[in-house]
Amino acid sequence: MKIQPFFDKRTSTLTYVVHDEASKVGVVIDSVMDFDAKNGRTWYESCEAVTQYIDTQRLTIPYVLDTHAHADHLSGMAYIKARYGARTVIGQFITTVQARFRDLYNLGPDFPVDGRQFDVLLNDGDELQVGPLTVQAIHTPGHTPACLTYQISDALFVGDTIFMPDFGTARCDFPGGSAEILYESIQKLYALPEATRIFTCHDYQPGGRALRYESTVGEERTTNIQLNIRTSKEEFVTRRRARDATLEMPALILPSLQVNIRAGCLPEPESNGVSYLKLPLNVL
Ligand SMILES: [Fe+2]
Repeated sequence: MKIQPFFDKRTSTLTYVVHDEASKVGVVIDSVMDFDAKNGRTWYESCEAVTQYIDTQRLTIPYVLDTHAHADHLSGMAYIKARYGARTVIGQFITTVQARFRDLYNLGPDFPVDGRQFDVLLNDGDELQVGPLTVQAIHTPGHTPACLTYQISDALFVGDTIFMPDFGTARCDFPGGSAEILYESIQKLYALPEATRIFTCHDYQPGGRALRYESTVGEERTTNIQLNIRTSKEEFVTRRRARDATLEMPALILPSLQVNIRAGCLPEPESNGVSYLKLPLNVL
């Protein structure tokens, strides 16, 4: 199994292509659509780095997965789907996120909140077969209600559940987030064998250190600065809440969610052929 990371500098996001080397079948996890809010422009430079690799390796991509509805970048999954005929995959509880944000954006009763914008919805324990690889979904809510960790062989793609040990854990103050629930989700991951590899969805390079995106269950359990085996639930929840209270909303949360609950598609163009994003005022 080969794991190839791609780092999107603008959003500090890691996209992964994971494939079986013999069969050349693989998946894309957490792709990024480029977006410039200043002039309302979208483009696909970040996805093109991924597709160039896929094409050079001559891979078949039956699935494109998001770990959750990201709040810091627009998903590139629709682009990957169009390019390779890949089926889009996300957690079943995206329906909860869709319902909440349909109301926030006042999308009306016609906006479906049953997850139909995605091709496959996974529950805890569900599996996808990708050639000889098995992708297993582990429901790890807390950052959002729909967050999944994808386990492929000995590798976990944890999304925004935990980051590198020197950065800690995901924030829990978005709609539907919960520090108590995130604590329990991380315990699930920490119960896995110590050598299990962890691949993070972001790296913010604290202190200006070099990019890091891979750790292990053993390393996180012993050294994660916010939640390790010595941290009680009460301590974690208190500190997480205090920290979240100091954080600003991500710059792209309002554009991102509108696209990401639509599986990486822009809103339907209006009569002039232009897609519009809404900016709800005084609601977050
Ligand atoms: Fe996130």
